[in-house]
Amino acid sequence: MITRRNAMKAGVALTGAVGGAGLLMPALSSAAQADGQTTTDIDPTTIPKFAQAMPVPEVTKPDRISGTTAYYSFEMQEVQTEIIPGKQTTVRTFDGYFPGPWIKACSGHRVVVTQSNSLPTPASIHLHGGHVPESSDGTPMDLIQPGNEKTYTYPNNQPNANLWFHDHAHHIESENVFRGLTGFYTLMDLPEKALGLPSGAYDIPIAIRDARFDDNGQLLYVMNDFRNRNVILANGKAWPYFDVAARKYRFRLYNTSNMRFFTLKLSDGSTVQQIGTDGGLLEAPLTTDTISLTSGERADIVIDFSKYAEGTTIILTNTENAPPGSPASQVMQFRVTKKAADYSRVPSRLRTLPELKPATVNRNVVLRVDETSPDGLGYIDDKIYDDKRVDNTIQYGDTEIWTVSNVNQRVPHNFHIHLVQFRVIERNGVPVTSGPESGLKDTVRLMPGEKVKVQATFTGYRGKYVYHCHMFDHASMGMMATMEVV
Ligand code: C2O
Ligand code: CU
Repeated sequence: MITRRNAMKAGVALTGAVGGAGLLMPALSSAAQADGQTTTDIDPTTIPKFAQAMPVPEVTKPDRISGTTAYYSFEMQEVQTEIIPGKQTTVRTFDGYFPGPWIKACSGHRVVVTQSNSLPTPASIHLHGGHVPESSDGTPMDLIQPGNEKTYTYPNNQPNANLWFHDHAHHIESENVFRGLTGFYTLMDLPEKALGLPSGAYDIPIAIRDARFDDNGQLLYVMNDFRNRNVILANGKAWPYFDVAARKYRFRLYNTSNMRFFTLKLSDGSTVQQIGTDGGLLEAPLTTDTISLTSGERADIVIDFSKYAEGTTIILTNTENAPPGSPASQVMQFRVTKKAADYSRVPSRLRTLPELKPATVNRNVVLRVDETSPDGLGYIDDKIYDDKRVDNTIQYGDTEIWTVSNVNQRVPHNFHIHLVQFRVIERNGVPVTSGPESGLKDTVRLMPGEKVKVQATFTGYRGKYVYHCHMFDHASMGMMATMEVV
């Protein structure tokens, strides 16, 4: 159990990443930037594209297993890593992994994670999309101070899902996540295994995000700074390539950006099969040439490379907020390098979702940020987040419909509820009966002026949970509220 962590610590000591200077530097550069002074951004066009291999996250082995419970422990720490070829970047990590470790868990089998905090900031670790008790939800004020630890219990009483974990410490989460504090968490179940989807080496999570760097290769965090975050990372590398065999692959795509939304397409216009979303598999695969991912959302896709000749390269492109040719218009490159046998399949039926129960409660939720001031505040129902306040009280077991509106003229948002996987039943007055939003969701897109109706049944745990815009900078600006299930 200790070996891996000790090895990681030794690595840290060698690079000196936890030394005082290392910790101060990012803060100084942010401050300098805010004053409009000395720091120069790296020019994204000078970063070689498709020059580094995209790493495949390693599945983390539990420290021990007892009965049906697997125990993990992570040390949150700063380390140096190579994101841009030839540069070392200080990042905030779980056990040194950037992007994070990968927990694979089985539905019905408990996972217990001890997080010890060796970062210079407090942290609170939330399992996004997880159905967990309040005490393990990583709520914004349930902080692990530097030098302390906390143990989280994840019951995994839910079906297959593409979960992830990340910091949620209020006002700090946006910088902590920007600096790397995220991890993958795949929840599998037996019905899913029986489908015969691509698995093992052909089932790969990819965290896609943007970032901003200074010319020394250090991350440059400035709040609400979407426009300057123009370097695109896939699994922690700037514009990597990934060698594939000419067969089917399952990619679990995560948008781990603080604020950037992606509209992803393959450069040759080919379709992919979307098989899942935030809360696991869709009922049936969806053939599409476009994958939309707002911050925090997931798309589970199968790409079949068998039609391509060896030597073919295909780029994963982004058309959202990224004119053709701009740095953010490309994400990564697939290179078809060899043939391989393929016994996997994508069945035409993937799962049956539970029937929607009749809703007995309707609520409205209004999302808004100040559009006029760059350091504006964020509001839900015209209120800034206050952890002492309960904004909505929900009766345990009730099924509710929430009509969520983005009343901004120019600023997009999205909307995430803790504790539940919800169903999107209507978008702008049009019922959602098919497509990528017809599965189980925990985060949903809301462009300016849009309105969506989501429906959820609140069971499993009583307690206080937050809901918020998942553009972390907006949540940090106050765009978060509390519900209490009683
Ligand atoms: Cu992914 Cu409340 O968070
Ligand atoms: Cu927002």
